[in-house]
Amino acid sequence: MKLTVIGCGYLGATHAACMAELGHDVLGMDADLGKVQLLNSGRAPFFEPGLDDLLVKHIASGRLKFTASYAEAAQFGDLHFIGVGTPQQADGDAYDLSHLFSAVRRLAAHLKGPAVVAVKSTVPVGTAPRIAEILGEFAPAGEKVEVAWNPEFLRESCAIEDTLRPDRLVLGFDSEQSWGEAVLRECFAEIVEAGTPTIVTDWATAELAKASANSFLATKISFINAVAEVCESAGADVHQLAEILGHDVRIGRSGMRPGLGFGGGCLPKDLRGFMARAGELGVDQAVAFLREVDAINRRRRERMVALACEQLGGDLAGRRITVWGAAFKPNTDDIRDSPALAVAQKLHDLGATVTVTDPKALDNARKVHPELGCVDDPVAAAQGADLLLHLTEWPEFSHVDPEQLARQVADAKVIDGRGTLDVDAWRAAGWTVRVLGRAS
Ligand code: UGA
Repeated sequence: MKLTVIGCGYLGATHAACMAELGHDVLGMDADLGKVQLLNSGRAPFFEPGLDDLLVKHIASGRLKFTASYAEAAQFGDLHFIGVGTPQQADGDAYDLSHLFSAVRRLAAHLKGPAVVAVKSTVPVGTAPRIAEILGEFAPAGEKVEVAWNPEFLRESCAIEDTLRPDRLVLGFDSEQSWGEAVLRECFAEIVEAGTPTIVTDWATAELAKASANSFLATKISFINAVAEVCESAGADVHQLAEILGHDVRIGRSGMRPGLGFGGGCLPKDLRGFMARAGELGVDQAVAFLREVDAINRRRRERMVALACEQLGGDLAGRRITVWGAAFKPNTDDIRDSPALAVAQKLHDLGATVTVTDPKALDNARKVHPELGCVDDPVAAAQGADLLLHLTEWPEFSHVDPEQLARQVADAKVIDGRGTLDVDAWRAAGWTVRVLGRAS
């Protein structure tokens, strides 16, 4: 099939490359010319494991290219995926849909024949009819352009695997006699035939699938982190507790790692966007508990700052703190709402000299946080430190030899915010170790 992907960020670029891998001819479209040039040279404008290889492979195979032209995209094929970003509004909790609406309007102006516009962007429920309205108003083909809702559940850091082998496929349409369903089933034929549960539903249910999935994932993380607060006071160990709970298949271990909490461009934003939309619909009571989920998550960062102060005797002025981690989670360079950087920034504001290190996200951290020192190597970053904080659980950090590291620092004190360091080995190497969610 010939298809396009409009918006080539973390979601769109990955989707475009994966659609080419499924055998389709794909044109990715992004308004940012610099991004388009980079993608056409086989490089993603961000780090996602395996993505550059896939880009190189399919630019070479001729099945994938990128453009900055809406007209070219509209003429390229009859199936257009929309993966434009929907960030949180600068002055509120709701989504900022301006980029999405603008992209649809600009594409619509060139749609002269029947087409399916399949939206993957995360939105508040009730957005699909507004997209249909825009298409109806601006597309020369008018009602021959159909809107399909196809939420995306990929996780950064395993985005390719999640796209090619998703755990479910959700397709939302306005009517039961949808031409779009046949088009999307053909597009995803390989995935459907592999036995992937495929749920065909209405627009609103498809839109809510994403908001509720992310809110549930956030709730699960905050649940275990709330229990972590109790553990610290009660002398218990939340990491062992999470394992005990996880053996119950109704609870499950996955997505319930205690620690510094969730960040990134999705979970925090989607949680707030869901609450904002429920408020508009007059059912804010139904999801009021999500406010507490958000509050628990924020408290994790405050707790880490408090622990750091405690370890340094209360006064941070002039103290040297090394932070391992800048990305919001391992295996990405994404620093949006990164818990690690939020903690680093706060410690800096309290007077500490903070040095951050990260295997992939340091360039992004430098741009946004010029006030923080940035050092590539985790051992060099800890030179002369009074305190080390392990805040993003990159495997690279677990591989550092604590004995060697103890010789670099001024004081061998570490707080493990993710619970993945080998505490016994660190203690044997002379470190004082605190783990978030474990009694001191
Ligand atoms: C999340 C969802 O997992 C995806 O299904 C969804 O498609 C995506 O948002 C999206 O909306 O686009 P992502 O933000 O890439 O994916 O990352 P996750 O792996 O879910 O992690 C989110 C945050 O929660 C990270 O900061 C991570 O460190 C934290 N986390 C995750 C925990 O603290 N504990 C866990 O057990 C899992």
